[in-house]
Amino acid sequence: MTQYVIDGHKIGVLFSQDDIASRVAVLAKDIASRRPSNLLVVPILKGSFVFAADLIRAMHHAGLSPEVDFMILSSYRSAVRSSGQVQVLRDIETDVQGRDVLLIDDILESGRTLAFAKDLLAARGANAIYTAVLLNKPGHLAAHVSADFQGFKCPDKFVVGYGMDMAHQFRELPFIGHVIPADEAGQDKA
Ligand code: IMP
Ligand code: MG
Repeated sequence: MTQYVIDGHKIGVLFSQDDIASRVAVLAKDIASRRPSNLLVVPILKGSFVFAADLIRAMHHAGLSPEVDFMILSSYRSAVRSSGQVQVLRDIETDVQGRDVLLIDDILESGRTLAFAKDLLAARGANAIYTAVLLNKPGHLAAHVSADFQGFKCPDKFVVGYGMDMAHQFRELPFIGHVIPADEAGQDKA
């Protein structure tokens, strides 16, 4: 596995820039094939911002012309797992009544973030609510939610890059990587 040392952390590449680009193009076509009407895209910030930026441009190439508004949700996290409390830090300004909405998130893990956002928009009268996630990390689901569109299945590792962070670091990496803990670094084969 290709590895980089960035700022003293060993990071292994899980999905390359090329892997991501081809997958995003396919996702956009899948989304377009559902023929959403009067579509509003809502990236859930912050972790999804790079994925969303690429996905909406791929959606353009797939023939869609959505509106875009943003929501910042925070689920309190102890170290690397979410606690269940989801808070709206920034709400959308758009009325979703009767509209099709595509929620975009970086990772589906417990599902609490996505379930919360879905419930909120359903309560406001959205018509169809689709969900697109870059990564699905199975094994930790705690809410009744699934992704309609999923980029990749994610190994049970802490991942960074392509918008995703570890304490706000590594969002700028053009690939999806995982932080190799110091105690594992020695055991890793090339
Ligand atoms: P959940 O599905 O409500 O547990 O929320 C998943 C959220 O936790 C994601 O949107 C990420 O912001 C964050 N998250 C989960 N796993 C990771 C990871 O491996 N790296 C970075 N953020 C993560
Ligand atoms: Mg997130």
